[in-house]
Amino acid sequence: MLRPDLRRGGVVVLDFGGQYSHLICRRIRALGVYSELLPYDTSLGRLKSWGVAGVVLSGGPASVYAPSAPHPDKNLFKGGVPLLGICYGYQLMVKAHGGEVRRTAKREYGKSALSIKTRSGIFRGIRKSTLTCWMSHGDSPTSLPRGFDILAASRNSPYAAVESGDGMQVGVQFHPEVAHTEEGGRMLSNFVFGTCAATKNWSMTSFLDRKLADLSASIDGRVLCAVSGGVDSSVTASLLHKAVGRKLGCLFIDNGLLRQGEAKQVSRTLRGELGIDLVVVDASASFLRALEGVEDPEEKRRIIGRVFSEVFEDFAKRRGPFKYLAHHNVGGLPRGLSFELVEPLKDLYKDEVRAVGRLLGIPKSILRRHPFPGPGLGVRVIGEVTEEKLTICRRANEIVEDVLREEGLYEGVWQGFAYVGDDRVTGVLGDERRVGYQVTVKVVESVDAMTSDWVRLPYEALERISSRITNEVEGVVSVVYSISSKPPATIEPQ
Ligand code: XMP
Repeated sequence: MLRPDLRRGGVVVLDFGGQYSHLICRRIRALGVYSELLPYDTSLGRLKSWGVAGVVLSGGPASVYAPSAPHPDKNLFKGGVPLLGICYGYQLMVKAHGGEVRRTAKREYGKSALSIKTRSGIFRGIRKSTLTCWMSHGDSPTSLPRGFDILAASRNSPYAAVESGDGMQVGVQFHPEVAHTEEGGRMLSNFVFGTCAATKNWSMTSFLDRKLADLSASIDGRVLCAVSGGVDSSVTASLLHKAVGRKLGCLFIDNGLLRQGEAKQVSRTLRGELGIDLVVVDASASFLRALEGVEDPEEKRRIIGRVFSEVFEDFAKRRGPFKYLAHHNVGGLPRGLSFELVEPLKDLYKDEVRAVGRLLGIPKSILRRHPFPGPGLGVRVIGEVTEEKLTICRRANEIVEDVLREEGLYEGVWQGFAYVGDDRVTGVLGDERRVGYQVTVKVVESVDAMTSDWVRLPYEALERISSRITNEVEGVVSVVYSISSKPPATIEPQ
């Protein structure tokens, strides 16, 4: 088992529902110390039995006096395990130690100036006496808890950072995990290595070594892995290949809705370069037949999912038996399968998955490729999926990616693509007026796909994309650029 073992000497983050809870774990893991987000009511007894070096109480939307407010095991505040309370977590700490928390007249949201009073504890080694920090709260402590000292204050928070007399419990009203907080990384590092005396027990190399040993010891049958050519599935397949070798069978379904040359590229890389036993099943005819005449986007998604399951199950029967199914996507699984699940990357963040991929020798062309939806071009062709629109969409997508790469912009954006619907506009070719398709180009930036904004591409790049599409893609006479953010639009057009 990976986690209980890693928790020893690591730092646990108790989750009170804050928007940055995951980010705290990522920051601590980036320091080389294992960190995991656990439910807020995880008992002190369990935390101690795992031998954790420290606990962070995350922020959260509740007010500590609300009847339904989440509270941790109250024994946590009696000492024994180093604590860092952030925002709501800090307010819980204040209340537990007899201090007071009030709804403040002025909500503090955004950047605030923090003046450091005592350069010790989490502020050890920080030279500046005023730092920019990120605040996001309505409530704040209005009296100092018993036995605590003030470390820093902001204009609206006289107790912006405090610590207990023995330094083992620290509370901050701001968010050190957010990039806008100056020296936030140093503060977390001071807590993790200074207060908690945590040991460096986490690196992608150590994760990989443990995972490989764990998988090869526990897997005693054949494993089936469906790959899409995306980062997660390629890393999963490659990891399993290294751990269990010939027990792994991989399936790549060509649904006819892929990017230009994608099936060939994935097969060349996974089979050719990485030596994985990969079978490419060309099921494009079944998918395209099932999609004939269908215009509704949700119906298209359902059909693509159904045909995928059918092809998958047929493959599993023909090439089976398989005991395990490797799963690498938060999305659903085909129903009614009788496999044991193997999810080797379940605990990793996306950047960590990429780091494992690099260690496994997966080429950048896969690790850095833009996200691509499961239903593929099926959701980038608006209205009925026809061969004509698919060809236009595929070629136009390729041009967008090409230009972004040539301009050195590809890796800096979240996603760049083109989509096409049934809109026809009039163009001229020589002296002849001709009606043709209108293609929409969309290039967005995003951190986690939950929100996105359109990229202010240089005019020259837009011009090259536009002129290449109208010159090189048969049937297209017009190109427009999408300037919608998410929300309200989604990233994909359907
Ligand atoms: P939306 O369009 O919902 O997309 O803003 C958010 C991110 O998810 C990708 N996406 C999908 N990925 N299966 C996937 O694996 C899907 O059905 C799917 N739909 C959207 C999209 O490309 C974007 O990065």
